[in-house]
Amino acid sequence: MKLPNFLRNYFIGRHTGKVSAHYDTYNKTYQTYLGDVIQGSRTVDEKDLLRYLGQNMQLKSGQKLIDAGSGFGGPALFFAENYGVSIDALTINEEQRAITQTKIAEQNLSSKVTVRQGDFHFLSNYFPAQTYDGIYFFESFCHAYHYEQVLREAYKVLKPGGFVYIKDYLVNESLNGLTENRFAEILENINQFYKFKFTAQQNSPTGMRTMLSKAGFETEIIQPVSYTHDNFEKVSGFHTATQHNEDNYIAGNLPDVFKVVGMYEVRGVKR
Ligand SMILES: C[S@@+](CC[C@H](N)C(=O)[O-])C[C@H]1O[C@@H](n2cnc3c(N)ncnc32)[C@H](O)[C@@H]1O
Repeated sequence: MKLPNFLRNYFIGRHTGKVSAHYDTYNKTYQTYLGDVIQGSRTVDEKDLLRYLGQNMQLKSGQKLIDAGSGFGGPALFFAENYGVSIDALTINEEQRAITQTKIAEQNLSSKVTVRQGDFHFLSNYFPAQTYDGIYFFESFCHAYHYEQVLREAYKVLKPGGFVYIKDYLVNESLNGLTENRFAEILENINQFYKFKFTAQQNSPTGMRTMLSKAGFETEIIQPVSYTHDNFEKVSGFHTATQHNEDNYIAGNLPDVFKVVGMYEVRGVKR
């Protein structure tokens, strides 16, 4: 059933409020365990991860990009410094915006990077149409309430030929030896803790390809990331340090968590 816009916007606002509250609670813990790059799937040296992402996005000097869901600004500042691109960053969380703004000033990158607080379901309210060479979502698309709306909005702000790049967890298309109940239980716990709205249909590689196509993108790649992961110590450290440790669901179930979700990279082009 198609909801009227005002009602859909109400539900989006209610959801993104919960996402931002998650970060209000955990920003300090994320900073302690993950540093400037809030990505659970990572290399031992986070610069290797950022170089991998920069390379696979095919960044070129002079490009104008949007960082959608920009965290503490680590990726945007790295790309501006090392790839000669300029970036407008957007995060739903006000504290993250303020932290990023301070770093932009400290690193003298205000001519290259801007940051604002806002919701990527409404990108075209903040950014001009047909202006950007690329938009990327690093472990942020997973927080969306309405994936198709986010992709449609991304489409609006891109130039023809512009790319959307998404690095994120997708739900695996097989049960990988789990029972259906166990699979559903793990998914439910991931959704609850991280404030995701994952479903096995939409968030699978096939679902992602369908959503990209509906929004007007041609899919170039949907594939598991291929860098060498760290051993998840940092992420386990994060879980150990949070109240989530009380039942320690995710940290205590990591082998099964990675039967349910895998880390993918997705690149689509606006035609
Ligand atoms: C796991 S963090 C990743 C941060 C950053 N991409 C990085 O690599 O360090 C997810 C980010 O998405 C942002 N986010 C979630 N929902 C959002 C929304 N609707 N609009 C804008 N940002 C959002 C959060 O505030 C957070 O910064």
